[in-house]
Amino acid sequence: MTGSGRGGRATVMSVEIRVMTHEDVRDVSALADRLVGDDYYTPALVAETMERSTLSDQVFSYVAVSDGKLVAFRFVLPPGRWEHGRGQALAPERWGAPLEKTAYFQSCFVDHAVMGQGIGRRLAHRALADLKALGARAVVAHSWKESPHGSSLRYLTRLGFEAVAEHPEYWVEVDYTCALDGKPCHCTAIEVVLNLDQWTPPEATS
Ligand SMILES: CC(C)(COP(=O)(O)OP(=O)(O)OC[C@H]1O[C@@H](n2cnc3c(N)ncnc32)[C@H](O)[C@@H]1OP(=O)(O)O)[C@@H](O)C(=O)NCCC(=O)NCCS
Repeated sequence: MTGSGRGGRATVMSVEIRVMTHEDVRDVSALADRLVGDDYYTPALVAETMERSTLSDQVFSYVAVSDGKLVAFRFVLPPGRWEHGRGQALAPERWGAPLEKTAYFQSCFVDHAVMGQGIGRRLAHRALADLKALGARAVVAHSWKESPHGSSLRYLTRLGFEAVAEHPEYWVEVDYTCALDGKPCHCTAIEVVLNLDQWTPPEATS
């Protein structure tokens, strides 16, 4: 259910956070096309990423659903299921934890109509709690420097992530049409890290 929010944006009244399933593949791909550009997540890549997000039958990727409509998703690759993100650049010497104990926050997209309402934060809290229960010690992400409203870095910083490196043209070799640059993408990634040993689930926000 939605109401009328500030600046004409919809305010989501009730949002369910749940684990991503194969039935979500097309909706996840369509949302990514709208948010970041065509073909960043084709349906085939969504299915492949879900597979890499799975460890011992547990899926570490999540969706937010409002009124039966998928409004956001978060992909997470648990330790042992990744070596780099969509680009290649990484600064593991600055993480404070080894790769085999480190998870990767691959992507999070929230529908424009409901951005800035804490849905991305709720998806992250669910993921971080599950990763901590698994025994992961750190989480790495590549923040999109040019994201709308600077939302990416603001959101990750508020979760406790700290910037450790900046990678110009991080996505230049990814074969997709960037919503800002077309093809190729010239956007910059800021590599950020969260120490899970020190992270505790915040009360009343997730
Ligand atoms: C980044 C993103 C996943 C965060 O999810 P969210 O549900 O919007 O998260 P939050 O509600 O915690 O908002 C994050 C920050 O962005 C700001 N923001 C987000 N949307 C906004 C909007 N439409 N207008 C103004 N500010 C906005 C929020 O105010 C908040 O900043 P603050 O903590 O300093 O107040 C989401 O905004 C998004 O999909 N952005 C575009 C795609 C993207 O950048 N994904 C991450 C790629 S690494």
